[in-house]
This record gives sequence, structure tokens and C-alpha cells, in this order.
Amino acid sequence: MNKPLVYIARKIPETAFRILESEFELRIHPGDLPPSRAELLAGVRGCSGILSLLSDRIDAEVCDAAGSQLVVVSNFAVGFNNIDLEEMKRRGIAVGNTPDVLTDATADIAVALLLAVSRRVVSARDDVLQGKWRTWEPLGWIGLDLASDSTQAVTKRKRLGIVGMGRIGAAVAQRLQGGWGMEVVYTSRRPRSSLDGGLDAQRVTLDELLTTSDFISLHVPLSAETKHMIGERELGLMKSSAVLINTARGEVIDQQALVTALKQGRIFGAGLDVCDPEPIPSEHPLLQLDNCVLLPHVGSATWQARNAMAERAARNIEAGIQRRPLPFPVQ
Ligand code: NAP
Ligand code: GLV
Repeated sequence: MNKPLVYIARKIPETAFRILESEFELRIHPGDLPPSRAELLAGVRGCSGILSLLSDRIDAEVCDAAGSQLVVVSNFAVGFNNIDLEEMKRRGIAVGNTPDVLTDATADIAVALLLAVSRRVVSARDDVLQGKWRTWEPLGWIGLDLASDSTQAVTKRKRLGIVGMGRIGAAVAQRLQGGWGMEVVYTSRRPRSSLDGGLDAQRVTLDELLTTSDFISLHVPLSAETKHMIGERELGLMKSSAVLINTARGEVIDQQALVTALKQGRIFGAGLDVCDPEPIPSEHPLLQLDNCVLLPHVGSATWQARNAMAERAARNIEAGIQRRPLPFPVQ
């Protein structure tokens, strides 16, 4: 009997292949780049499972191309905005993702961006490389403090605003409260009844968070509700000394409005692990600004996280094809 066919949209860590190769026939998209739409539609033909990446749009057209034996779509990511969930539900196709195992790695990148922007690490390094370092400069490369200001009569803690207090948002807050004693405020549609790790945080409105925070970090999933939730009005509410970090999805920010705010010095700076589109064109204005640090979507890029993601993605495929509940379903 033929083994069920699984389409894997890119080479991922071996862990996944070791789990899947004995029971399933694997059709792995070759090369380092995502499949074109035509390659994706041709590649999924006859598959029972699709192991997709966040760059692959999985919708009705892909399901039609695969055929009626398709039972599971497993995303190699925690975000699943690339999948048309309504359509999968209508067709009875199970959808899984890879939560938790990339939380620490992504939170670390958010903190790395926050430090890099606040202390101007990248522009200072660029100046060294360009021969602009002439002397120890008492007034050069001045950045922002992360620790409390204890030079005043009353010690003033820095305030961190977490937009989307889920797994990654909470991990970022724990790092910055534990490390620098920051006061934490957050938004989410529902209050968090308990926060892990002794985190002390207060839920406020988005406007209050934007108006009062020194550092703002975005952690909401991309949805119709969160697309461009940070636009011209919201950037206008922020302090001129505010630092904005985005490790969620590029489309959560209206990028044109961000370029204008950064150019005009409306905020101190931005640290972005994600942007719109990805990859960003090399001539994009964001890349010309020394108050913006942009990374190529590397939040989960550690071996520990990527191996664990590969394992979770494979376990979802295995369970889906065997008609068992997925161990890591998209809720
Ligand atoms: P999560 O645990 O589901 O957290 C998302 C949080 O956002 C939830 O607490 C949710 O709370 C809140 N939320 C949802 N809609 C909201 C809205 N309209 N307004 C305010 N809060 C809202 O997810 P996670 O694991 O932390 O991951 C978050 C996102 O990070 C992913 O969806 C993905 O896009 C991104 N990500 C990026 C990388 C990277 O490499 N840069 C890596 C991993 C994840 P309520 O439901 O109560 O609102
Ligand atoms: C990465 O962006 C993810 O959603 O896992």
C-alpha cells in the first residue's frame, strides 16, 4: 500500500524528517527560497498533509489543488495568519502550529532590539566601520537608560508597554522587569487572571499604554483587528523618547506612518524583526534611517527553538493523518 504523501514547503531541521519518513512519503520543496504559487499548487497535489511555512498562503485554492484526501495543515510557526482558518474549518482540515518552544528565543530578540535601539548599538558600529570614530566623544552616540532614574528626588522606573500579553509578551515583560525593574502595563482583549513568574503588570487601554510608556513592544497576532493598529494617530500619542519594538508581524504597524514618525524624530527609534513586505526592498526608506534597526525575521532562529518547532510540526502532521487530535492545534 502506498504511504500517505506529505508536502513540506522547505528544508527544515532533520528532526521533522526523522519522525515522518518511516510512515509517510515526503515531498520536500527543494532550495532555500519559498515555493512560487505555481510550485506550491503543483507540490501539494495528492497530499494528505501539508507542512507549511509562514510565507506560504494556505487557502481554498491550495486545498483544491491538494485534493479531498488532505486532512492536516501544520504550520512551522506559532503565527498562523498565512492560513485561511475559516476555509480549513469548513473543509474539516485540522490546523496545527508550534507554540511555546520559540517563546524564549523570540523574547530574547525583542530585548536585543530594545537594547540596540536605545543605546544606538548599530549606528555606533556603522560609524566605527566607516572610519567616523575620531575620539572618545563626551557628547556622541548618546542613548537612553533602561534602568530607573535615581538622580531625581523620587526614583522613576521606566515603563514598558506590552501590546498583546500572551506567551511572548509576558516573557519580554519578565526579562525587563526582572533585569531592569521596569514597571509593566499591557493590553489584551481579556484580562490576564494570573501572570507567571511573579510578573507585576497592570492592564490599561491602548491609548494609555502608548501615551505613558517609555518602551512599547508589540506581540499581538496579525488579524483584521490588529492590522495597522499602530498608525499615524497611535505614533502621535507616544512620547518623543519612546522606543517601539515589533517582533509580531510587519502589518501590525502602518509602515509608511512609522517612516514619517522616525524621520521627524516623533519617537526615539524603532526595532523591527518583522516588516511589510518581507524581505524589504533594499532601497526602502526604513533602511536609510539610523534610528531604526531592522532584522530579517529571526525571532525563533536558535537551534533549540527550530528543532523543537520541527518536532511539533511533525507531530501535528503524524496525528492529523492518523485521525487523532493534534497535539498542538490552533485554537
Ligand atoms: P499568544 O500567546 O497567543 O499571544 C498573543 C496575545 O495577543 C494574547 O495574549 C491575546 O490576548 C493578545 N491579543 C490578540 N488580539 C489582540 C488585540 N486585538 N488587542 C490586544 N491584544 C490582543 O501568541 P505568542 O506565542 O505570544 O505569539 C504572538 C505573535 O508573535 C504570533 O502570533 C506571531 O505573529 C509572532 N511571532 C513572531 C516571531 C518572530 O520570529 N518574530 C516568533 C514567534 C511569534 P487576548 O486574546 O486576550 O486578546
Ligand atoms: C514566527 O514568526 C512565528 O510565528 O513562529
